Amino acid sequence: MPHVMHHHDLISRFGSPLYVYDLALVRERARALKAAITYKPFQPLFALKANSCPAVVRTILAEGFGCDAVSPGEVALALRLGVKPGLVLYTENNMDDAEQAAAIQQGVTITCGSLDRLARLAKSGAPTAAVRFNPDIGAGAHAKICTGGPLSKFGVHHTQVDEALKLAPGQGKTAIVGCHMHIGSGFLDADAFVAAMGVILNIALRLPDLTFIDFGGGLGIPYRAEDQPIDLARVGREASRLMAEFDARHRAAHHARNGDRAPLELRLEPGRYLVAEAGTLLTTVTSVKTYPESVNPDGTPETARTYVGCDTGFNHLVRTAMYDAWHRIDNLSHPHGAPTRVDVVGNICESGDVFARDRHVPQPRLGDLLAIRDAGAYGFSMASTYNLRPLPAEVVIDGKDVRLARQRQTVEQLLDGWIWS
Ligand code: LLP
Repeated sequence: MPHVMHHHDLISRFGSPLYVYDLALVRERARALKAAITYKPFQPLFALKANSCPAVVRTILAEGFGCDAVSPGEVALALRLGVKPGLVLYTENNMDDAEQAAAIQQGVTITCGSLDRLARLAKSGAPTAAVRFNPDIGAGAHAKICTGGPLSKFGVHHTQVDEALKLAPGQGKTAIVGCHMHIGSGFLDADAFVAAMGVILNIALRLPDLTFIDFGGGLGIPYRAEDQPIDLARVGREASRLMAEFDARHRAAHHARNGDRAPLELRLEPGRYLVAEAGTLLTTVTSVKTYPESVNPDGTPETARTYVGCDTGFNHLVRTAMYDAWHRIDNLSHPHGAPTRVDVVGNICESGDVFARDRHVPQPRLGDLLAIRDAGAYGFSMASTYNLRPLPAEVVIDGKDVRLARQRQTVEQLLDGWIWS
């Protein structure tokens, strides 16, 4: 990342708070993922929900990725960026019939997350569909981002393959060309991921018209210093090995009926892994205050506390409030100051608007520039205008090239959403 002065320059040029993305790092992660998968054909997709900034998405597309989209808006973004409809996978969740009709019109493949959706897709005469199965195995950094298992609303249960085939049998009717899973987000241990691949491939063996398998995304990144990065080489090795074996088994199982076919395509659709570490939320300290030692409501003693207030909050980065996520925080103005135990908090009117509790940060002072790290995934993309605070600006850096990617929203733009008459 660029050095300290550089960040201060960015703030004087573009204002605070500010999202900054390092495109070189995005490119590096995209290449690492491709290099880890030896199975061919491999078609990686980028989960647009992690970061929809066009400059970021373009960087990933340039590495040969397609897009995983979850809404008409994300499909529109992909198509506007010139992605061929065949490389846009619309993994729906409770879409409505108008959305289905539009997606078919656009020529994108729909991954059905329920049997009733598959029935309506088949009824519409769509030639192809993919199906997301729930392998009954979940993973993820927090219960709210675990998307497999009985408590997850996503996918067709893995025991319901026959029902799916009845609805979409191929042979002139809708054919199931894709078998999909996504078990959760932010895992650093690949065991559950690899186990779920096995479950999903057993299902997929029964789908005669298959052209691709999509193991989803979910690869975590080390937010904390003590986190072990995911063993990408192992994920790549296992996925490649399982896929090669599967292609042979599937060929043997269906050869008689289908004649020869191209090797099945392997897909992965990570979001966070590609963009999280490349993003920083820069924020300025607007207040520093200390409470003396006191007593908690339950009678326990409370230490003195120092609150470091910032010019951003969970409106711009909700991950700490929503998932108890941990983001590294650096003091760019004062990197060598004495580490001081503080609570870093935002400017939103809620007690949960906390970025870090009891964190040691080089003594933050009024006006200091803080960097909230690893904010490139699910940062801006989950931002809101709560408290009527406008969305921040986004800047991309690529080597020496620095560009504004999104203008800071104005209060006027925000208020203009209402009808005033
Ligand atoms: N594919 C599907 C179908 C998904 O639902 C998701 C994420 C992904 C791919 C990409 O997952 P990733 O590789 O980024 O883990 N807002 C949460 C994460 C929610 C993820 C939802 N689905 C967070 O900030 O941690």
